[in-house]
Amino acid sequence: MNTITEFSFNANELQLTWSDGRISELEAIWLRDHCQMPATRDPVSGQRLINITDIDPDINIKNVTLDVKNHQHIVLVTFSTDDHQSQFTSDWLFDNCYCLNEQNDSRSAKYKQLWNGSSFNDDLPKFIYSNFCDDVQTKMTALNAVKNLGFCLLQQVPCEDKQVLKVIQQFGFTRDTNYGDIFEVRSKINANNLAYTNLGLGCHLDNPYRDPVPGIQLLHCLQSTTEGGESILQDAFMAAQVLKEENPDHFKRLSQEYINFRFQDRDADLHSRVPMIEVNDKQEVVKVRFNNRSIDTIKLAPLKIRPFYQAYRHFAEILERVDQQIHFKLESGELMLFDNTRILHARKAYSKGGTRHLQGAYSDLDGLYSSLSVLQRNEVGAK
Ligand code: OGA
Ligand code: ZN
Repeated sequence: MNTITEFSFNANELQLTWSDGRISELEAIWLRDHCQMPATRDPVSGQRLINITDIDPDINIKNVTLDVKNHQHIVLVTFSTDDHQSQFTSDWLFDNCYCLNEQNDSRSAKYKQLWNGSSFNDDLPKFIYSNFCDDVQTKMTALNAVKNLGFCLLQQVPCEDKQVLKVIQQFGFTRDTNYGDIFEVRSKINANNLAYTNLGLGCHLDNPYRDPVPGIQLLHCLQSTTEGGESILQDAFMAAQVLKEENPDHFKRLSQEYINFRFQDRDADLHSRVPMIEVNDKQEVVKVRFNNRSIDTIKLAPLKIRPFYQAYRHFAEILERVDQQIHFKLESGELMLFDNTRILHARKAYSKGGTRHLQGAYSDLDGLYSSLSVLQRNEVGAK
């Protein structure tokens, strides 16, 4: 554990030297804003009670003293304005200091386990549904697989109507859409979406025309007696990385050009204006949108059209590489649970004879991440 070996201060900042030799330099305004005392933070919820405008923009540090309580240092800071006093434990300062800790983006490709077709030797992340429900370790492993690999498969899920909604209740909340709480994937006449025909569907992410896009998709197979209809999954974060390695300009183009996606039928007209590859402030990939059925008319500046198509085509060619994909047949009772901002899915065409019936539903990533965090927190607490 790190302790404070030295400290000094001036009007603008507090300087701490830690036992591992590292140094924290903390600005007066940051310290005041992060004050942990009951007048600034509600002791029950931990939420901040003051606004940034309540703090004098020219606030200074007047004095700092170091105390010891419960075997750790307490740093007592007095500020120039109204003699406000803040106490910080050394553990809090160490864990929260902006010099020692970077702000990570748990959604970004940098923190994921990227994969391609040869990453799994017959060991796809598969779990028996009753274990997923009843055994905390299994649920954590499965949800971690969705967080890190982007997907998992559940087996022996009861083949009952709307069972997919019960699966969602195990980790989050259903995202209702214009398709309803669930959508029926089977061929029908006059289908409002090619998904509801027996045609093959190329690799895609669902609903890029929705903003925000549903972060989680589930597809539960209730019946599968047709020829064909095999499923394909693919890691779009890996494909984006391959694109960047093969042609950084193409990657940049798809992350910088905003395009439109659209879906319309009798009851809905949905639009979004988004990049195909979304990056964060550190240029790490955080979301991919790819769907040839729902990309809208491309209306970029004339000089951007040709380079956009070169980049778009290059990305699509990477997605068609079989060595990037995993192929399997979803049997009745099996369910795919995947990150719809990252994992592309496709299906092969299937025969008219026999029945293929899937029920799909959407949920959101934040609910899944939250459930996983709580399970992990409880696990640590129980030890
Ligand atoms: C869909 C879809 C895949 C399948 O409904 O969005 O991609 O296997 N279906 O039918
Ligand atoms: Zn789909």
